[in-house]
Amino acid sequence: MYKSQQPIPDEYIVMSEQERDERIRTIKADLGSKLVILGHHYQRDEVIRYADYRGDSLKLAQLAAQEKKAEYIVFCGVHFMAETADMLTSSEQKVILPDLGAGCPMADMAELGDVEVCWNLLTTQYTQDIIPVTYVNSSAEVKAFCGRNGGMTCTSSNAPQIFTQLLGNGKSILFLPDEHLGRNTGLKWGLHDQDILLWNRENLEEVELPKEAPKLILWDGYCTVHQKFEPQQVDEVRKKYPGIKVIVHPECSHAVVEKADLSGSTDFIIRQISEAPAGSIWAVGTEINLVHRLAQENPDKKIVSLNENTCRCVMMNRISQPHLLWALDNLNKGEVVNQITVDEKITADAIMALNRMLDLSK
Ligand code: 13P
Ligand code: SF4
Repeated sequence: MYKSQQPIPDEYIVMSEQERDERIRTIKADLGSKLVILGHHYQRDEVIRYADYRGDSLKLAQLAAQEKKAEYIVFCGVHFMAETADMLTSSEQKVILPDLGAGCPMADMAELGDVEVCWNLLTTQYTQDIIPVTYVNSSAEVKAFCGRNGGMTCTSSNAPQIFTQLLGNGKSILFLPDEHLGRNTGLKWGLHDQDILLWNRENLEEVELPKEAPKLILWDGYCTVHQKFEPQQVDEVRKKYPGIKVIVHPECSHAVVEKADLSGSTDFIIRQISEAPAGSIWAVGTEINLVHRLAQENPDKKIVSLNENTCRCVMMNRISQPHLLWALDNLNKGEVVNQITVDEKITADAIMALNRMLDLSK
């Protein structure tokens, strides 16, 4: 799994926020076009303000694939995003994750060995074409598995398109690792509960394979942040704020998505709220840093979290201003710390899965 993050020198922690800010800005100016900082929307304000580009996971993957000049790509996000960026950039470009502990628990819920056991059982049992599709929130090894088995990656932005392309052509899908994104997308496309099989990776003997191949086989992974939203919270905000619109990320359970007015990727949520009329009221079911930023950036609307007691994505939040300065300071001295590299063979297979997704999302 991941290397753990060594403590960074105290000087970066004790320094004032203003000094860190000045030093980050100076180093950015010194490194000029040699450096690009990418930031996911869930990053803290103290970090996202330095991003040259911010985006959801699809946009950041597209930006990494297009970035041909920068020698250093500092990724303010989580490990799987930095891995993806490394695979989509050239071997001369270096991708840096300012805190190596920034993983994604959902990505860790699909281990290659378990996925292969599932695949062997499915492909032995059925003659039907089954295509493995993995949410980008997965390891490079799982992406490589999908690539070499004719499958692809997806993000929450393009999952509907990919489901349409595959289910519409009569294929079945093995969807990894997020049960909820898979179920929400499948049901929205028109599948019924009986078309879907939930794979129980811990208790394989409990998985009953039906005679006919299911249209959708779901891995049982989930996001520890979005899993905390509950359907009764939708009832509560509707009672508290008459006329409120509820918008949630499709990593929430189907029971929550069903009760919400709208569901979609991070980018979709941002677009819907920024284009909404002044005076409208919104409850948002996604990571709290983004909800707070949406409230700040849309002062003419009222924006609340679907659950004010929700926790942050602790993994995204591991990237802090001190860690960013520490990584940049080292780059400025010519020392690359926390470089994320993916083995060449894994990259060769995973890139097929990533490119199939990127080609469909142009
Ligand atoms: P997006 O694809 O919407 O950026 O989501 C990534 C993520 O990790 C959400 O939890
Ligand atoms: Fe992973 Fe959830 Fe955090 Fe996204 S919000 S990085 S899925 S734990």
